[in-house]
Amino acid sequence: MSETAKIEYNGSTVELPVVTGTENEKAVDIGPLRAKTGLITLDTGFKNTGSTQSAITFLDGENGILHYRGYPIEQLADQSNFLEVAYLLIYGDLPNKAQFDAFTTAIKEEMHVHENVKIFLSGFPQSAHPMGMLSSVIAALHAFHPQDLDPYRPAEAIDRTIIRLLAKMPVIVSWIHSHVRGLPCVQPNANYEYVEDYTRMMFSVPTHDYKIDPILVSALHKLLILHADHEQNCSTSTVRIVGSSLANLYASISAGVNALWGPLHGGANQEVIEMLEEIKANGGDVDLYVNKAKDKNDSFRLMGFGHRVYKNFDPRARIIKAACDEILGKMGIDDPVLSIAKRLEEVALQDPYFVERKLYPNVDFYSGIIYRAIGIPVDFFTVMFALGRLPGWIAQWKEMLANKEPIGRPRQVYVGPVNRTYVPISAR
Ligand code: CMC
Repeated sequence: MSETAKIEYNGSTVELPVVTGTENEKAVDIGPLRAKTGLITLDTGFKNTGSTQSAITFLDGENGILHYRGYPIEQLADQSNFLEVAYLLIYGDLPNKAQFDAFTTAIKEEMHVHENVKIFLSGFPQSAHPMGMLSSVIAALHAFHPQDLDPYRPAEAIDRTIIRLLAKMPVIVSWIHSHVRGLPCVQPNANYEYVEDYTRMMFSVPTHDYKIDPILVSALHKLLILHADHEQNCSTSTVRIVGSSLANLYASISAGVNALWGPLHGGANQEVIEMLEEIKANGGDVDLYVNKAKDKNDSFRLMGFGHRVYKNFDPRARIIKAACDEILGKMGIDDPVLSIAKRLEEVALQDPYFVERKLYPNVDFYSGIIYRAIGIPVDFFTVMFALGRLPGWIAQWKEMLANKEPIGRPRQVYVGPVNRTYVPISAR
């Protein structure tokens, strides 16, 4: 007999099925609740609401555990590479050699981006935020690939759309970077590995040959893997919900990019470095900023701190903190902002305000320091997050369609005025 949970309302009892996940996570299936009681559930911000049953990412916020398709993030970040992780997320298993070769070959075949994308980009002021340009260009891809619009095409055709977007994303990001710098866009080159080629396109200047930097490439693989998926967060839920209307992949991912942009989500990495720079400029007084964050009359928050799900530590932050020391050490960079970040973490973690609320550094706290060290401009930090998150968004979009999930459409409790009678403007 499967488990059930009972809800008593208005003198009658409703028995609801309990769903158990493979990691023994439990959920009450409230589907029958309304039909039996007239009640809906109310959960602003979906703090305790599961929107799907997913086989992609497991996250245990109490114990700081993150697995992609069952594999611990620590192992993947240490031993895998970004495209292998992308394959794992999208197709469910680690690829064998032949599968990986076929995957990377298909990506190489799809790297070219239509020349008109440059014309489209040139319409943006050079000061435009790269996230706005990124979401616009991704949405615009539908016009260049009209055959990709129907999400219910045969699996091979859907796969080609997925490959197309994965292949073009680094090119698009690098072209946005070229646009803001007023430099020519660099064409992709299939002789390079995915992340290598991204760094080449991103950092090439017309006057010099670009030399691939293995330290930089390896740091990026790690960061992109750490960003690759994070179950039902704001941007991923956006991708799934937009996709559930049967909008095409480009539209769904473009929506995800916009959701990620916000400072409470992926935009936090830019805010963190700006906050650390401000602390440095104001003499490094960490306590002042910790006190500001605690002051309920001050809207300031410690950016890069706190998480909806992690209530002990964010395993990604631990890996990135260690990587930060290692990468800056290898590059011979002594960034004073790193010392400020560490001191800020130390002070906050001893402060009862942060302890009681279980606020810890998240993935965005140290990532910006690495991005800056390897030459990524501050307003491109969130774009890097998007580049890393793309395989996760795609995997979630694919899973949502495979599950034939219904269109996402929450309910609400109406609290506005009732039954008013219209009065013409002349009489008001
Ligand atoms: N600084 C100061 N106080 C905080 C912070 C912070 N960074 N984060 C949460 N709090 C307080 C908040 O004021 C509230 O206090 P009280 O109970 O007294 O009202 C309590 O902690 C709970 O906060 P919440 O906003 O209700 O928690 P949430 O789960 O809705 O929000 C969060 C999670 C990540 C949006 C929030 O912690 C935050 O704004 N952090 C800073 C932005 C940030 O770093 N975002 C990146 C998240 S990780 C990357 C990603 O996946 O997007």
